[in-house]
Amino acid sequence: MSEPREWVEADFVVSGAGELLTCARTGAALGPRSTLGLLPGGAVAARNGRIVWVGRTNELREEVRLVRGGQTVEADGRLVMPCLVECHAHLAFAGERSDEFQLRVAGTSYQEVAAAGGGIMSTVHATRAAPDEVLRALTRKRLDYFLRFGVTTVEAKSGYGLSQEQELRLLEVYRDVGEAHAVDVVPTLLAAHTVPVEYLDRPDDYVRMVTKKMIPAVAKHHLAKFCDAFCEQGAFSVEQCRRVLEAGVEHGLLPKLHADQLTYMGGTEMAAELGAVSVDHLDHVSEAGIEALSASDGEKRVPVAVLLPGATFFLGEGGYAPARRLLQAGARVALSTDLNPGSSPTTNLWLMASMGCSQLRMMAEEVIRAITIEAAAALAMDDEVGSLEVGKKADILILDETRHAEVPYRYGMNPVWRVYKEGRLVVNRDLLGEV
Ligand code: NIG
Ligand code: FE
Repeated sequence: MSEPREWVEADFVVSGAGELLTCARTGAALGPRSTLGLLPGGAVAARNGRIVWVGRTNELREEVRLVRGGQTVEADGRLVMPCLVECHAHLAFAGERSDEFQLRVAGTSYQEVAAAGGGIMSTVHATRAAPDEVLRALTRKRLDYFLRFGVTTVEAKSGYGLSQEQELRLLEVYRDVGEAHAVDVVPTLLAAHTVPVEYLDRPDDYVRMVTKKMIPAVAKHHLAKFCDAFCEQGAFSVEQCRRVLEAGVEHGLLPKLHADQLTYMGGTEMAAELGAVSVDHLDHVSEAGIEALSASDGEKRVPVAVLLPGATFFLGEGGYAPARRLLQAGARVALSTDLNPGSSPTTNLWLMASMGCSQLRMMAEEVIRAITIEAAAALAMDDEVGSLEVGKKADILILDETRHAEVPYRYGMNPVWRVYKEGRLVVNRDLLGEV
């Protein structure tokens, strides 16, 4: 008599991968020789939008039973991996700054443009003037762009409103658009993005308004998960950012920080001390900052280092973040587009992976983790998305590639064949051009 079988029941299966990358949290869970959890000939099964089984296609028939009405997709040797996670995006803004780009090409610096009233503040004016419906449409369109690149989780910062009413309005746009879009939107309050014109000669009054009024209002209406600040000359000092992030923590908003982007300020050390979820940019991070981001076995959360090579590339002044030193120190490194109208107008997260290799000297395995599981960790969502593991969302990508080394190799391209969000087909590139 044979043993009664313990079937796993599934309503959605992807089988026949050339390589399946789990990108599992431990790395060792399924593929001990690879930090990507690489399974040649892999397959994945889901039920009700959650992953219930991951293994090899030849074990599938023995272990997984498809329920009536369930669907199997044949990957036919293609690469299967988790959908991407975009962990640093300035999503809602109006207008564009192509003239500013040309000024910078001709030699004016980013900070000179800002000091002359352009830069972030010019986008603030355009955004404040845009009706709700326009901002919603622009936000939706950018999420569509991300989705076509296989990104199904997107962080969305405010920061182009800079008054209580306008910052809340941007966060409400994220709530409303996110509810109806296939992409999961993760909102961040970035009220401390720059000192608005109304407060130019009294930045501390602005910081006080942010900590005493805006943060409590945002928290009360559950409009943001994170609180972020721009720690930079011409923006906010380390101490001002500390006040903002501490007020956020007091009201249940998890801290993040833009730190050491254009100049060394010491924001990284401060953010690590506060147990920030991520510290972002790091082009000019110090040795002490790197040390503060290296893994520890203590109780305190160590921030994920979010590197944004697109911003460094687009500003054109060189000085990429020291990714290798961060990795060698044991930091968790994520990559993101930094989508915004000033320093990085792109939604192509795959291109960031290519830059991660060519400019930051990260290896293919490192950049793939950096746009999946490490990016999920930078949003404190690594128990939900960013890897193909049992219990997580069935956010599954099939690429028109076969080997993982090809992912960062064809730069500037879109390798996506199909995108499944919680087991549901949301992008089918076979159909592009037919509609
Ligand atoms: O991440 N550094 C601050 N914020 C953005 C730039 C925003 C803008 O220029 O509009 C960034 O690079
Ligand atoms: Fe940014």
